[in-house]
Amino acid sequence: MHVRQKNGIYTCATMLTCVLMSTVVLAGEPPLKENACSACHKDYIKIMPQKHPEVGSVKACLSCHTPDPADHEPTNFSVEIHKVHKAGKNELKCAACHSF
Ligand code: HEC
Ligand code: HEC
Ligand code: HEC
Repeated sequence: MHVRQKNGIYTCATMLTCVLMSTVVLAGEPPLKENACSACHKDYIKIMPQKHPEVGSVKACLSCHTPDPADHEPTNFSVEIHKVHKAGKNELKCAACHSF
């Protein structure tokens, strides 16, 4: 096989891989599992921040903190939730909440 032909094949393969990977990334954020929080937290009052708007009878956090499907930027909520589960021995695997 000629060297130039070989290089061509590698270039094609690399480009294809890049296209596939960016498609996966752009496809959106990793979906959350069902009952992502209640699997570990039975009492939502305990994990509600002390400074938090009145919510009445406590409902699932994600009933209000719903991500905007058109906006893949982290929200204050997701930043906070990621942070508290990264601290020391509370560190969780991504798959504890997300279904990748
Ligand atoms: C695999 C178990 C697990 C899952 C799933 C999980 N957490 Fe946690 N979370 C913990 C542990 C362990 C801690 C640290 C101990 C504690 O405060 O209960 C914690 C702490 C927290 C805290 C801090 C509480 C405090 O006292 O400051 C918040 C807020 C919180 N979790 C919210 C959530 C939300 C919202 C979800 C769902 C998106 C979630 N957690 C899913 C295990 C989990
Ligand atoms: C009834 C609706 C509602 C529910 C249920 C709810 N929240 Fe909130 N939360 C809000 C509102 C409104 C704010 C003020 C900021 C905003 O507009 O996002 C807020 C703010 C926060 C903030 C500060 C960061 C931010 O987004 O501004 C955290 C952290 C938070 N909530 C965690 C929780 C957790 C954990 C739960 C579940 C235990 C929960 N919330 C349930 C409505 C809700
Ligand atoms: C305690 C549960 C929990 C864990 C553990 C967790 N996430 Fe998340 N993640 C969330 C929640 C809640 C949201 C916001 C709601 C949504 O986007 O569906 C979120 C959103 C995201 C988003 C969308 C952008 C954003 O921040 O809103 C990305 C990307 C992400 N997570 C990646 C990860 C990765 C990578 C890991 C492992 C290092 C991880 N998450 C671990 C709960 C978790």
